Amino acid sequence: MIPLKITNLMKRYGKLIAVDGVSFEIQPGEVFGLLGPNGAGKTTIISSIVTLQAPSEGKIEIFGIDTQKNPRQAKSYIGFVPQELIHHGFFTVEEILKFHATYYGISADKNYLQYLLEKLHLWHHRKKLVNELSGGMKRRLLIVKALVHKPKVLLLDEPTAGVDIELRASLWDFIQELKKQEMSILLTTHYLEEAERLCDRIGILNCGQLQRIDSTEKLLKEHSSKKVTLILSKPLRKLTHPYLTGQSDHYLDFKVPNEMPLNALFREANIPLDSILDINIKVGTLEDVMHNILNGGKHA
Ligand SMILES: Nc1ncnc2c1ncn2[C@@H]1O[C@H](COP(=O)(O)OP(=O)(O)O)[C@@H](O)[C@H]1O
Ligand SMILES: [Mg+2]
Repeated sequence: MIPLKITNLMKRYGKLIAVDGVSFEIQPGEVFGLLGPNGAGKTTIISSIVTLQAPSEGKIEIFGIDTQKNPRQAKSYIGFVPQELIHHGFFTVEEILKFHATYYGISADKNYLQYLLEKLHLWHHRKKLVNELSGGMKRRLLIVKALVHKPKVLLLDEPTAGVDIELRASLWDFIQELKKQEMSILLTTHYLEEAERLCDRIGILNCGQLQRIDSTEKLLKEHSSKKVTLILSKPLRKLTHPYLTGQSDHYLDFKVPNEMPLNALFREANIPLDSILDINIKVGTLEDVMHNILNGGKHA
């Protein structure tokens, strides 16, 4: 059984088509990144999975359970971290989590709760009112809350927005840990570095349509280029080469396909090795990939 399967999802708000025929699935232990500009439809897809929105067309299945026919059963397998922060200000962290467990008809497992709170650096704040938490702490609380009922599919809508660098790194480690426990994770993020690090596969969404689904590795290979700067020990004659993007007496700039070895470039462009003082290489990133796919260009 596939943990999450979306088939031809369509969501209309009046005349606006927010999600336009989206299909994808996520396997156990897989992190799938849904990337795209603001308004692309990411949150609408996630809201449809957790039945906060009813699809206009299409089908969403969690382990084969149709979310529209059996919402309660389907939702028992889903953990959901919403993009918007919630405000149950007058309860403590611990109380919120206990209520949440009760909602799912389970009593909160004390050891597991401690494990989650420690993992997300909230254990020492457990007696605090939600009102007293910082934005980053509230977001981490949402993550703990999403995991209390031990779901198998985790939906993370911009989980690291407003979380500082150190905690973001520990959250990344935690996501890797969940992945090892066979959790299926759907992640939306604006931090492309985060997506590159965590996602096995990526779907690029634009105006409600999935423009591309592929492994992160393949996307990077096909749609990004490395930027190579050669620092020269002596001025060279004027070069012409299709990958050359800048030249002076002191340096040469190239944009080279990721898979091209540098010695091939030196040979092709006829650059004598003894004229090179130093080399600076910047490998292609998901930013190039997004730019290329969304703008239809070749190499960024
Ligand atoms: N409840 C709603 N009513 C009407 N339009 C909405 C509603 N929710 C989202 N939209 C619209 O649907 C589109 C997709 O929004 P959203 O899914 O939030 O995008 P993203 O999460 O990718 O930024 C946007 O044009 C947004 O304005
Ligand atoms: Mg959103």
